Amino acid sequence: MTELIETWSKDASEEDGMTEEHAWIWREMINIVPQRDISAARILDIGCNQGGFLRMLYDTRPFASGVGIDLARDRVSLANAARGGRPLEYLASSQLADTGGGFDMAFSHEVIYLIDDLEDHAKQVAAVLKPGGHYDAVTCCHADSPLWARWRPKIAEFSNISVPNHSIATIAAAFLKAGLEVSISRFLANAFIPLEPPNEYFPTDVERVETYARWKLCFRCLKDPNI
Ligand SMILES: C[S@@+](CC[C@H](N)C(=O)[O-])C[C@H]1O[C@@H](n2cnc3c(N)ncnc32)[C@H](O)[C@@H]1O
Repeated sequence: MTELIETWSKDASEEDGMTEEHAWIWREMINIVPQRDISAARILDIGCNQGGFLRMLYDTRPFASGVGIDLARDRVSLANAARGGRPLEYLASSQLADTGGGFDMAFSHEVIYLIDDLEDHAKQVAAVLKPGGHYDAVTCCHADSPLWARWRPKIAEFSNISVPNHSIATIAAAFLKAGLEVSISRFLANAFIPLEPPNEYFPTDVERVETYARWKLCFRCLKDPNI
């Protein structure tokens, strides 16, 4: 069982920026939710950190109930403090069974690249989804992305957990082995990608647009409606 931590990043300010930095990507994830009406849905965010994704989803498209789960206790406390009147609950745990299950949909954004045992993760996801439910796991941190070899040691320096080196094939194989139907989308291929001055992650605009448009992937994992 993965141990809990206080914060994911050794430098908590690194994490504080994520809510703002990831907002445009969360909006694109919300845009690809297939259901027209999610008002009765129960929704899970795996690796929720400070909880911003579920808050944004609820404020954009209200749903019945949502659970966020993360290893980082301090971040989960911040998420609970910020939920306001929304029907959200945030838990510090590595075990999805602690959520109570019964989810119509689950999401993770930039989390699967931090999970060593993806087969176990996939099994846990399959167990908490309702039949017909789906899991959108989004990442551009994988061995098939050209910038990953440079990013991985940088992230490993500040991450309080290890940073594995999964490829598209190993990620897909883990979800398939759990009995889920898997499809992949370059879901930012047509998105407007905010440009920023070059930095250590994106040394040029070309690398930024190539990485987001080509290598930021959504693995959509569907649980058979008849199971
Ligand atoms: C890069 S951050 C992304 C946070 C958030 N999803 C976002 O979009 O801003 C990765 C998060 O995943 C969490 N995490 C990593 N492994 C996890 C696991 N096995 N179970 C739950 N959370 C995990 C970390 O603690 C961290 O908060």
